Amino acid sequence: MAKVLLGVSGGIAAYKAVEFVRLATGNGHSVRVLMTAAARRFVGPDTFEGILGAPVLTSEFERDPMRGAFPGQPMPDHEPIGHLAVAEAADLYLLAPASANTIAKLATGQADSIVTTAFLACRAPKMIAPAMNDRMYQSAATQDNLATLRSRGVEVIEPGEGSLASKGEYGVGRLPEPAALLERVEATLAEEGGDSEMSGVRVLVTAGGTREAIDPVRFLGNRSSGRMGFALAGAARRRGADVTVIAANVGLESPPGVERIDVEDTGGLAEACRERFPECDLLIMAAAPADFRPVEPSRDKLGRDRGELTISLQPTEDILAGLAASRRPGQTVVGFAAEHGGEAETRARGKLAEKGADLIVLNDVSDPAIGFDSDRNEVTLITAGETERVPVASKAEIAGRILDRVVELNNPGRN
Ligand code: CTP
Repeated sequence: MAKVLLGVSGGIAAYKAVEFVRLATGNGHSVRVLMTAAARRFVGPDTFEGILGAPVLTSEFERDPMRGAFPGQPMPDHEPIGHLAVAEAADLYLLAPASANTIAKLATGQADSIVTTAFLACRAPKMIAPAMNDRMYQSAATQDNLATLRSRGVEVIEPGEGSLASKGEYGVGRLPEPAALLERVEATLAEEGGDSEMSGVRVLVTAGGTREAIDPVRFLGNRSSGRMGFALAGAARRRGADVTVIAANVGLESPPGVERIDVEDTGGLAEACRERFPECDLLIMAAAPADFRPVEPSRDKLGRDRGELTISLQPTEDILAGLAASRRPGQTVVGFAAEHGGEAETRARGKLAEKGADLIVLNDVSDPAIGFDSDRNEVTLITAGETERVPVASKAEIAGRILDRVVELNNPGRN
C-alpha cells in the first residue's frame, strides 16, 4: 500500500484531515502527518497520533523519532534529516487543507515550516486541496498562485461550493469530504502505477447477498452488505489488478476504477459469474448467495387475507463449486465460509475440499460486532496446508491480508 504524506495547514477544515487519516489508514495506506503552527490552533497533533500510532512532525528543526520511515517500514540505522527523509520516502504528498497563506508560500518556493520544506523536497506526485473563505479563494493572488502550482505539475483538488465557516457565508472554498479526497489520492496513485503487485491480473469478485422473489414485492434475503467484497475489489484495484465486481443488492458506491455488474438473485449471479469466470485469473466469491429459492414465486402480491402461508423452497446451485470444477490451469479460486460454533474450522476446511477452492476465508458469524454490516471483521484463512488467524481489523486491512495470501499461494517461494 502507498506511503501518503499529509501536510495540514491552518483552517477550520483541518478537522476533516483527521477523518482523511482514519479512512486512508483503514484502506491500508501508511500515513505520516506534518502540521503548520496555524494548523495546530485548529486540531492537535495528539489527535492524528492517536489514529496513526506514529509521531506527527510540527517543525523542520525537531528530530523525527521514526527517522523518516512510514508506519510498517523499517527505520534506517542512521539519523537522517527528518523533513527530507519523510519527503523522500513518500509515494504522494497531499496538502489538505491548503490555506491561502501556505499556497502563496509554495508558489514562491518558501521553506519556513515542516509543511513547506517537505513540499519543496518531495519528488513524488503532489496534490493540494485549498480550503478558505470564498473571497480569499477567488482573489487574484490565490488564483495566480494556484495557476503557478498547476503549471509545475501540482494537482489542485478544487474546493466545493456550500456554506463556509463564517456564519451566513456561502460560496466556493469548502474542503471536499475526506472520502472524496481519498478517492482522488488513490486515483492519482493508480495513474502513477501505484502498487503494481497485481498488475495484469484479472480479478472477479462477487459481493452482497442475493434476493429470491416470493412475490413481486417480497423476497428471501440475507444480511450481507457487500462491504467485504467491495473492500477486496478496491484493494485488488489499488494493487494494479483489473477488477470486476458482481454486486448482489449492494447499496455502496463502487471502489474507483472497478467495473460493476449488478444482479438480484442467485440465478442472475450464477449467470454473470459463468460469463466472466473464464477470462479471470482470480475469483473471490465473497457474496452470500441464497441457498434456497421459492419453487414458484407468486406473480401477484400475496394478500394477508389468505391466512397461513407455506412456501416451498428448492436448493439453488452451488456457484463456487461449479466454477471451481470447470476452471482452467492458472485460475485461483477463493471462497468464504460463514460459520459459528466450535466446529467452525473443521466445517470450513470441509468446504475447501468439497468446493474445490484454493483458499477459504472463515467468518465467524456468531459475533455481532464483526462481520455482516460492520466495517470490521475477523477471519481465519484456510488453505490445504495452513490455518492463519487474522485478528480483528478493518475490512480493508483484512482484504489486504487475503490478497497477500493469494499472492503467496501463487508464488510459494515468497513470504
Ligand atoms: N456459495 C455459492 N453458491 C451458493 C451458496 C454459497 O457459490 N448457492 C459460496 C459462497 O459465496 C461462499 C461459499 O460458497 O464463498 C460458502 O458459502 P456458505 O454460505 O458458508 O456455505 P454453503 O455452501 O452455503 O453451505 P452452508 O450454508 O450449508 O454452510
